[in-house]
Amino acid sequence: KQNINKKQKLYQINLDAARYFFKSMSGSNNNGYKYLKDRGLDDKTIKYFGLGFAKNDWNDLNNYLLQKGYEQQDLIDSGLAIQTKNKKNYINRFKNRVMFPIFDQRGKVIAFGGRVLDHSLPKYLNSSETMLFNKRKNLYALNFAKKNIKNDTLIVVEGYMDVISLFQYGIKNVVASLGTALTVEQAKLIKKYVNKVIVAYDNDEAGINATLKAVEIFNEVKLNIKVLNLGKAKDPDEYIRKEGVDKFNILLKNSIPLLQFKIDILKKKYDLNNDQDRLLFTKNVANIIKNIKSPIEVEYYINKISKETNISIDAINSEIYGKYYKKN
Ligand code: GTP
Ligand code: MN
Ligand code: MN
Ligand code: MN
Ligand code: MN
Repeated sequence: KQNINKKQKLYQINLDAARYFFKSMSGSNNNGYKYLKDRGLDDKTIKYFGLGFAKNDWNDLNNYLLQKGYEQQDLIDSGLAIQTKNKKNYINRFKNRVMFPIFDQRGKVIAFGGRVLDHSLPKYLNSSETMLFNKRKNLYALNFAKKNIKNDTLIVVEGYMDVISLFQYGIKNVVASLGTALTVEQAKLIKKYVNKVIVAYDNDEAGINATLKAVEIFNEVKLNIKVLNLGKAKDPDEYIRKEGVDKFNILLKNSIPLLQFKIDILKKKYDLNNDQDRLLFTKNVANIIKNIKSPIEVEYYINKISKETNISIDAINSEIYGKYYKKN
């Protein structure tokens, strides 16, 4: 019971803070507002996602919330206030940052992410883990995306701005894993709503590595997986702003099934004009195909690889199913 009361209080603090950050951004001269405008967001989007600004002030929010009647300990427990190093004072956790409220599935504010306006570090700061916020179990914007599911699919991106940008362009079945390596809990959460995911992580080394890990986790919870290829763009936000929504929709349509994605990665490691490489490549692909359950898919990929490598379908089958494999 005590816990329930405490949680209610923390929800209320987060909501009051979100409203405060939103109001703090009013006025076209506000640096936070200017920042979001520069990044192409319109007022409607800013309002929909409840974006705001934490002023360049160590005390304003903390004092405001104290004045509203909250106790200092509750503000600490909400993750919005911190103790100074000398332990004598309490100050805001967030200062001079654009604020992104993080919602739970029901749309209640449970935490914040705050972005710097320049190139200083850390680029993003999150609320600490609290009674309300466990980042491993939460997906940013799932509260919005779940109402906009299309084709039994959710698109999974890395960041706040990817979700919000895509949303503004009308692509609304998007959630973000927020930079943390995707967790099984997050994958299970997605599986509650859809059977298919499109992974649209950043097109840099970190993003590609994160993709390789995420697909294995999605696979574990039996989601059907495709991977989006952003070409030269850094992330979905950058892509859609440069190329527009029609081209992004084509990317979605052309997103690559997991198996093909893995084969493409292998292909880059080998020179298919070299006999030795061709054999190794084919053996590796056979190992991947081994794990596929659908006979139709298996046949499709075996045919494809046979054509690409000039190695017979029978030989590839034998590689997969053992040397005593006999067709029929
Ligand atoms: P923009 O530069 O604003 O476009 O952000 P981004 O989303 O493209 O950033 P990036 O690809 O570097 O990171 C993806 C996501 O990881 C962000 O949206 C954050 O949620 C998270 N993230 C990035 N940098 C940090 C950081 O320094 N600290 C924490 N806690 N999270 C981060
Ligand atoms: Mn980064
Ligand atoms: Mn990234
Ligand atoms: Mn990014
Ligand atoms: Mn970005």
